[in-house]
Amino acid sequence: MAPDPEALALLAGRRVVAELRAAQRRRRRAAIALAGGGTPRRLYRLLGTLRHGGLNGLQAERPLVDWRHVEFFWTDERCVPPDDRHSNYRLALETLLDPLGVPEYRVHRIAGELPPEAAARRYAAELDRVLGGAPPRFDLVLLGLGADGHTASLFPGDPALDERRRTVVPAQAPRPPRDRITLTLPVLTAARRALFLVSGSGRSEAVRRVLVEREALPATLLRAGAARIRWLLDRSAASRLPGLLGAD
Ligand code: 6PG
Repeated sequence: MAPDPEALALLAGRRVVAELRAAQRRRRRAAIALAGGGTPRRLYRLLGTLRHGGLNGLQAERPLVDWRHVEFFWTDERCVPPDDRHSNYRLALETLLDPLGVPEYRVHRIAGELPPEAAARRYAAELDRVLGGAPPRFDLVLLGLGADGHTASLFPGDPALDERRRTVVPAQAPRPPRDRITLTLPVLTAARRALFLVSGSGRSEAVRRVLVEREALPATLLRAGAARIRWLLDRSAASRLPGLLGAD
């Protein structure tokens, strides 16, 4: 568990680097699915400094990750244009991809500007082209947690949560931007590693419901899957955990 959001971003940054380095040692190329929302912003900014070898000022003796051989995907996207302030793609482009100099051919965004079904099919085809596999396997998936226990854009009660055949589907959020595109549970669960990054007291009850009560919430369902899952929490998000179980 990290004492505050800044320390959480540094902890997460080190874990992201470790996972991508391990993946590149195994297969030279690594594939990551980025989380959306607000929490990852600090993490992406921190990772964005790695182009010049530093992680929060700790200069690395050599590049930690070969960013030219990382395939960047997203766990989900809002159905908005790529330059919209709500776009998960825009968040990562500005804080992570541009600062790292990631080549465009390694960036596989969800076309939020298209009609939802067309966007879902296009993204599923890109996943299949780049990763293949049934379902495609990410080396690392970054995830947030909503106050209602949603993750990616898999919301309680939404049919997208029950999809087991398709890899990408349209989804509905309970608040704007309502139209979303999301990876489905089989893809998220197939990941070699999933990192939940959760910050703030506003998420503490959801964390307790998932990690302690194990209520049948979207994030819990992922937890029940095969993926090796780590929860990275700051003190506020972990504040309702008895003895801070289950948290880094
Ligand atoms: C999104 C995310 C969503 C997010 C959670 C937590 O597109 O909004 O995919 O699942 O991770 O809602 O959001 P915060 O990080 O803003 O708390």
